[in-house]
Amino acid sequence: MVKSVQVNKIYKTKIIRQNNELSGIGIIDDIIVFIDYAIKDEVVKVKINKIFKNYAIGSIVEIIEKSKDRVEPICPYFFKCGGCDLMHIDYSKQLELKKEKVKSILKKICNIDISLDYINSYNTLNYRNKVVFKVDKNKIGFYEKKTNDLIDIDKCIISNNKINECLMKIRNFIKINNNHGITEILIRVCNNEVMICIDNINNSVKNNFIDQLKDVSSIYINNKNIYGKAFLTQTLNELNFSVSPKSFFQVNIDVTKNLYNKVLSYVNKSDVIVDLYSGTGTITTMLSKKAKKVIGIEVVKDAVKDAKNNIILNNVNNVEFICDKVQNKIDILKNLNIDIIIMDPPRSGSDRKTLNSILNIEPKKIIYVSCNPVTLARDINILKEKYMLKEINAYDMFVNTYHVECVCLLQLN
Ligand SMILES: C[S@@+](CC[C@H](N)C(=O)[O-])C[C@H]1O[C@@H](n2cnc3c(N)ncnc32)[C@H](O)[C@@H]1O
Repeated sequence: MVKSVQVNKIYKTKIIRQNNELSGIGIIDDIIVFIDYAIKDEVVKVKINKIFKNYAIGSIVEIIEKSKDRVEPICPYFFKCGGCDLMHIDYSKQLELKKEKVKSILKKICNIDISLDYINSYNTLNYRNKVVFKVDKNKIGFYEKKTNDLIDIDKCIISNNKINECLMKIRNFIKINNNHGITEILIRVCNNEVMICIDNINNSVKNNFIDQLKDVSSIYINNKNIYGKAFLTQTLNELNFSVSPKSFFQVNIDVTKNLYNKVLSYVNKSDVIVDLYSGTGTITTMLSKKAKKVIGIEVVKDAVKDAKNNIILNNVNNVEFICDKVQNKIDILKNLNIDIIIMDPPRSGSDRKTLNSILNIEPKKIIYVSCNPVTLARDINILKEKYMLKEINAYDMFVNTYHVECVCLLQLN
């Protein structure tokens, strides 16, 4: 137990660096203190909120020496809302910090020193095409950082304007209809069309809800399409993709285009490719235009249904989809002479069984797309038994948050 630092007491400290979530780190009485919204080199007065075995958590009471990279957050909810983390830092510094973060994680976990490019987002606001709002009686918004307290918001400025237009209407609806029963709302925009999915609604106000929101293209209640289209269509690199409520689709379209083009640049006409964790088959379908054959593997049934739709929609005939967990099906690929394995797993990364199977299959290249540099580095550390990390590029998919999207090329030794 830490003895010298005490809860609720105020200390002065200099921020020595950022952690992986890009909070500031100060050392007080030899104890590491994580301080939200503090920036490297700032001198701050900190109140200690919680003490753990090897570290403490504090919050800024006063900034004594301000970083030159500190800016006034553009969003009025920023310091309360848990949606964004970095609006108090100048955008070019955000990019620099995220680049350093990826480099230091690779060094720490894999002992790999590699230079990387960090590609910015064209839009730093209004870029998100999908948002999930929490609802509680007449409040709608996001949870406060690290709590379940709902912050009532009337605009989310990193989200598409169409999402904010809907938020206004839903806000009015829940204020008037107190007993509505809704606890969660997903709003998604594809090609300027809007889909709304709610988890529940009381029958007495259901028709009223549909009536107030009937400008949108699709409404789902409890996974049932009760108004308009069953799926939306998103155009990307001249291909069309159908997207339904449960399907994964990247949240920042401009950055996604750049990222997918990087993936495509690693592929040749004669390649037989497997796309692991293929979602709605976006990467799979794009690759089909550049490769000999592509097989996608994805566990979510609705996403595979969308993916199969997508290959028809785009007139593609060299693609196959398997609906199952990657770890259940990967071994059947051994005899297929796979040239490239592409993998784009969820934040938790891949699993040991899948990584061992990949080492056994020995494709010439692995293209690893990741939204979590820590699990990416953990998996590369296993793959490096046979593969060399040739190139890594980071993309600012999630502007104003600490999250980073990476594309890596690994080559068989
Ligand atoms: C980050 S998304 C990638 C989607 C796709 N590559 C894209 O760019 O749209 C990860 C996908 O992995 C799927 N998934 C998660 N665990 C899985 C598993 N064990 N086996 C197969 N798919 C899985 C999720 O349903 C999700 O669609």
